[in-house]
Amino acid sequence: MKPIRKAVFPVAGLGTRFLPATKTIPKEMLPVVDKPVIQHVVEEARAAGIEHFIFVTGRGKGAIEDHFDVAFELNATLDQRGRKADLDRLKQDTPLPGRTSFTRQQEPLGLGHAVWCARDLVADEPFAVLLPDMLHEGPTPCLADMIKERAHHGGQVIAAYEVPENETHRYGILDLKGETEGSPQIRAMIEKPQKGQAPSRFAISGRYILSPKIFDILESQQRGAGGEIQLTDAMVTLMRDEPFHAHLFRGHVYDTGHQLGFLTANIAYALKRPDLAHELRLILKDLM
Ligand code: UTP
Repeated sequence: MKPIRKAVFPVAGLGTRFLPATKTIPKEMLPVVDKPVIQHVVEEARAAGIEHFIFVTGRGKGAIEDHFDVAFELNATLDQRGRKADLDRLKQDTPLPGRTSFTRQQEPLGLGHAVWCARDLVADEPFAVLLPDMLHEGPTPCLADMIKERAHHGGQVIAAYEVPENETHRYGILDLKGETEGSPQIRAMIEKPQKGQAPSRFAISGRYILSPKIFDILESQQRGAGGEIQLTDAMVTLMRDEPFHAHLFRGHVYDTGHQLGFLTANIAYALKRPDLAHELRLILKDLM
């Protein structure tokens, strides 16, 4: 079985739900506490042993490329000022030379199209896709667990998390074969099912391990929901020939792509920080 060495980060969306903040700042660069959301997700990929980081960017997303590069002037200034801890942290966060690639999705035609734009960089090997606006916080990194599970059953893996029954209509929901423990096989996926029609409470959480065969399907994929080329539609086609398993993530998932999710993630992550938690608790109490 080929190992998972490459991860694709689709970061070309317009982030319209965060206007006007995202008029000039990429949505993926908005911070959760003091790290851009994209960095949280790249760290998850690194912890899973990913060696090559492929970013599908678009116009106005240059800050992401700069963020994962060495900032010589900043480093020199920090060095002069004796800010060793800050300097070490920046160095530690920077991927090794040659381990990042950037390609452009010239028009934001949808997630499926963004993934397809990475086809030449991924080439002929299985790969991971991580949606940068979905943060997974658990005892072990989500992608690392998915890779371990894949080693047992092969095929494709989609991470999912349990959402309240009355919210299933907002998500892509998995129809699972049999057990809701371990890593059950997926029978089908339903995008935003009508209220009361969801086959389970497991919502797709933005982490995928896919075969490169998905690129051939995406090549001729018609536009789906919202007039966009949807990754889900291509996965449904691939599912006819290849098994898909679910990784049922048991930690917290924060959708930072909308205001409340973003604010919740900031509070939750700050409350885990020993240098911030105590004061933040007092501030929150005061505000209430
Ligand atoms: P979203 O739909 O959450 O992002 O896509 P968006 O389109 O930027 O957000 P809104 O709805 O306008 O506020 C999830 C991820 O997929 C990327 C986005 O950048 C985001 O990280 N994406 C989405 C692309 O790279 N290309 C696309 O065409 C669409």
